Amino acid sequence: MKIINFGSLNLDHVYRVERFVSPGETVPCLEYTRFCGGKGLNQSIALARAGATVFHYGKIGRDGAVLVRALREATVDTRHISEVDGPTGHAVIQVTDDGENSIIIEGGANQKMDSGDTATVFGLLSDGDWLLVQNEINGVADIFDAAHQSRCRLAFNPAPMTAAIAELPLARVDLLIVNETEGQILTGETQTETILARLRSHCPRGCIVITLGGDGAVCLDGDEIVRQPPFVVEAVDTTGAGDTFVGYFLAAFSGGTSVREALKLGCRAASLCVTRPGAADSIPMLSEVEAAPHHPRHQAPVGPGP
Ligand code: RIB
Repeated sequence: MKIINFGSLNLDHVYRVERFVSPGETVPCLEYTRFCGGKGLNQSIALARAGATVFHYGKIGRDGAVLVRALREATVDTRHISEVDGPTGHAVIQVTDDGENSIIIEGGANQKMDSGDTATVFGLLSDGDWLLVQNEINGVADIFDAAHQSRCRLAFNPAPMTAAIAELPLARVDLLIVNETEGQILTGETQTETILARLRSHCPRGCIVITLGGDGAVCLDGDEIVRQPPFVVEAVDTTGAGDTFVGYFLAAFSGGTSVREALKLGCRAASLCVTRPGAADSIPMLSEVEAAPHHPRHQAPVGPGP
């Protein structure tokens, strides 16, 4: 069983600021750093670090070789990443001292997918393989159409959320992972249990996970609700925490680990991610996650965020 991640690759420009810039305002940057990122790349690296066999299908511009190197170093198979004319996708990220972020993305090469790419990806998938998709590449609706003809399993992380996502046939999804905001937008509900129930009506056969930021994560597996309290840490930068969760959860879940254990592993990995700056660079190795505290502590929690 393999996992193909049909996803974005971004160059992240990170600006540490005292507070997020307001409309009409100019603020100084306390520190500027460049990192490898993109929800797709981050999730591929998290999958690989968690021990999964993962192929990344994506596009970069001429300035994106560093992203392919980072994936290769993490043992992600990069043979299906191609170079196109124009710039690589990039993100402008403000990070404050309490670890919160604010992100603008420019899709670049990530927005150059066409029907040929979708056909190639589905041609690579065998029955029972997993296809992982986020919402940072174009053509997600076409991918859902093609998924109906395929016997692969589909994992979907609809981030960042856009209006078009609400139109997608989530009934085809085997694993849906959203954060609280995405869940609220998809369902119009505000309570976690109600969000889960509404998502279940859209996605009747899938495992549904909601990451709750500082409150851990919750999963609807069949009819059973499984909760994971947060692991308490000092947050430096929450960028990539949600991606770390997705990669670790999917690696465990697709490998047959119970939902309860997969949730715990995902939350533990995400809690380590937020203690370090950057996105891909901050994703822990499995050995670090296994060595981290096994029991959540109950004070000032920080869990996987958006
Ligand atoms: O989820 C974090 C990621 O979102 C960043 O790495 C940035 O590239 C944006 O895609």
